[in-house]
Amino acid sequence: MQSTVEVKLSERSYPIWIGTGMLAEQLALAYERIPNWKHAVLIADQSVSPIADQVAEALTSKGIRCDVNGVPSGESSKSVDQLSRLWDAMLDQRADRKSVVVAIGGGVIGDLAGFVAGSYMRGVRFVQIPTTLLAMVDSSVGGKTGINLPKSKNMVGAFWQPHAVCIDTTTLQSLPDREYLSGLAEVVKYGVILDLELFEYLEAHAESLVQRAPTAVEYIVRRSCELKAAVVAADERETTGLRAILNYGHTFGHAIEARTSYGRYLHGEAVAIGMSMAGELAKDLSLWSNKELIRQTVLLKRLGLPVTLKESISTEDLLSAMQLDKKTENGVLNLILPTCLGHVEVRSNIAQSAVSAAIDHCR
Ligand SMILES: NC(=O)c1ccc[n+]([C@@H]2O[C@H](COP(=O)([O-])OP(=O)(O)OC[C@H]3O[C@@H](n4cnc5c(N)ncnc54)[C@H](O)[C@@H]3O)[C@@H](O)[C@H]2O)c1
Repeated sequence: MQSTVEVKLSERSYPIWIGTGMLAEQLALAYERIPNWKHAVLIADQSVSPIADQVAEALTSKGIRCDVNGVPSGESSKSVDQLSRLWDAMLDQRADRKSVVVAIGGGVIGDLAGFVAGSYMRGVRFVQIPTTLLAMVDSSVGGKTGINLPKSKNMVGAFWQPHAVCIDTTTLQSLPDREYLSGLAEVVKYGVILDLELFEYLEAHAESLVQRAPTAVEYIVRRSCELKAAVVAADERETTGLRAILNYGHTFGHAIEARTSYGRYLHGEAVAIGMSMAGELAKDLSLWSNKELIRQTVLLKRLGLPVTLKESISTEDLLSAMQLDKKTENGVLNLILPTCLGHVEVRSNIAQSAVSAAIDHCR
């Protein structure tokens, strides 16, 4: 079984194909969709080289010349060094405007390869093959690409939409448990911000999801892609403010990641603690009920995610990190807070004492 989610953008709409054990079929569809595809530049996380081999084999069988470029695993590959190494490699591989960059890996590879594709010869075509849950439900949808600078994450980049996204959930089989569970935090986020039904599905299937039951995994990936695609279609470049709701739990989460030097928590784990802090704040401000907060907490825990901050970072320290968040505008902290399960609002000018109290509730 395979399903398709259309990302509807004015100039560059594209499909996300989602299936289990369908990668070769999805690549055949991509080949049909992309005219005059003769050369592929594969940019692959070194930890998924068997998947890269599978992709190369499928594309070669269509008569496409394939060059495979391995990239070391980890966030440090989202760097100027890797970017320029890949530009050089593409020159050596005689990549031209008709070449297609194929990203194979998690969010690191998607962001890096997307930016390579968006910048080489002022932009070449691009296909994403996400292999982490986070990349399937979040980073491969929406066209944000980029790299880190030594002093700041995601500081240089561009919007560059892929021509197609191929999601084969069997690629998750080799993903370590912690990485997989961390991706589930973003799915909980979609439930809280937009979709009570998805939230209830997660409650009903938490154990199956922890065990990666294929039907449940495919369902949450498809629903998450639909939800993110709808938000992106309505606010592609973060101009209307709608896309900001995707930031639920992230302002707290980014501050936690920054203050633990990006080493203690995976992104989704920090977001889970961030959602718990935002949830506490919403309850304290009487925006949503204690019952709803408890449902969020219980679900996160059942999915093996943390809801409290174990580190001894001071509340003042976290608050100052939050002020540095890229989403802060003119020093005003905008926070996304739930008003009920399935709905959030953007709130600004919240008293610092209330934010501090919410942080302290989660220790
Ligand atoms: N562009 C966006 O909209 C967006 C959104 C959210 C996050 N991001 C970015 O995504 C990145 C995080 O993504 P991530 O969590 O996927 O991290 P990641 O790409 O680093 O992958 C996590 C780990 O899993 C390994 N891995 C990947 N696929 C595997 C597989 N199938 N089997 C075994 N190991 C596998 C990787 O080598 C890595 O060690 C961050 O850089 C973040 O900034 C971007």
